[in-house]
Amino acid sequence: MLPNHWYAILESNEVKRGKPLGVTRLGEKLVVWRNERGEVAVLHESCPHRGVALSTGKVVGDCVECPFHGFQFNATGTCTIIPANGKNTPVPKAFNAAAYITREAHEFIWVWYGEARDPASLPPLPFFDDIDDSYSYLTLRDHWTVDYTRAIENQLDVVHLPFVHKTTIGRGGQTLVDGPYVKLDGDRLLIWFDNRVDDGTPPKKWSEMSEPTRPPLLTFLFPNIWQNMLGEKLRIVIAFAPIDKENTMLYLRQYQRISRTPGLRFAFNFLSRLGNVVILNQDKAAVITEEPKATWAGMDEALIQGDRPIILFRQHRKEILEAGNRR
Ligand code: FES
Ligand SMILES: [Fe+2]
Repeated sequence: MLPNHWYAILESNEVKRGKPLGVTRLGEKLVVWRNERGEVAVLHESCPHRGVALSTGKVVGDCVECPFHGFQFNATGTCTIIPANGKNTPVPKAFNAAAYITREAHEFIWVWYGEARDPASLPPLPFFDDIDDSYSYLTLRDHWTVDYTRAIENQLDVVHLPFVHKTTIGRGGQTLVDGPYVKLDGDRLLIWFDNRVDDGTPPKKWSEMSEPTRPPLLTFLFPNIWQNMLGEKLRIVIAFAPIDKENTMLYLRQYQRISRTPGLRFAFNFLSRLGNVVILNQDKAAVITEEPKATWAGMDEALIQGDRPIILFRQHRKEILEAGNRR
């Protein structure tokens, strides 16, 4: 995981009021629940007392209560009561559970993976602020048996289209890749590409290209949010929620504001999702066979010019990891 970044880990509607959810994300077992006001909290799953899964307990007021001996933990992980010691006995800090700083926005639940800091001082969530209520979508949720780095790189891969998607979005045999032009801007990776049919002329070198004036087709926001800008009223966003080193949950949303009346909107979104199932399954069939199941900068793979988005992705992940180690 990349330190000191916000990760989208779940969709809001996966966490119901009054029902703690046990889930593995970021390589850890977690318990996620909503308090009486609907606010989300995320703690490590194992009770600090004797290890029972807190997700098998219940929500009591602001806390989750362990079913074994009734210890209660609030959103910051503070153990507020040990019933066997009596309600007037202070609880030592040693009984606190590890907690994540949590936010909820854009119908995702986000956790801060990094150093404990004043929540008010944390950077903004990595998302697309121009997606507003005029858009609608239906989520396609899909579990892939690879690390999230592999799943993300597939969406940064502008070379695979005429092969993996030759019956869908990659029709036309445009196998030759000019550039692509890629730019790293802070924690944003911006990608423009124009593939074409191979007419015998060599591909343009990215180093000889200038930055296109149109908006990038693909944008990746570290650590786990991607967008394909299909048009002014249509874009696909994927959150790659890391489960563990060999598993990732993809949340794919095709945001649209073309059809806005309720019935048409649902039909549009439903059909979009069906189409995306077909396309995503084409990707998945290839990606789940990749070995190793995770990637890193400098790994032993023979990359080509067209892989530049992937090269920059790996390099920037390395920079973030090294910056975390230096602190
Ligand atoms: S194991 Fe949770 S209260 Fe004892
Ligand atoms: Fe693809």
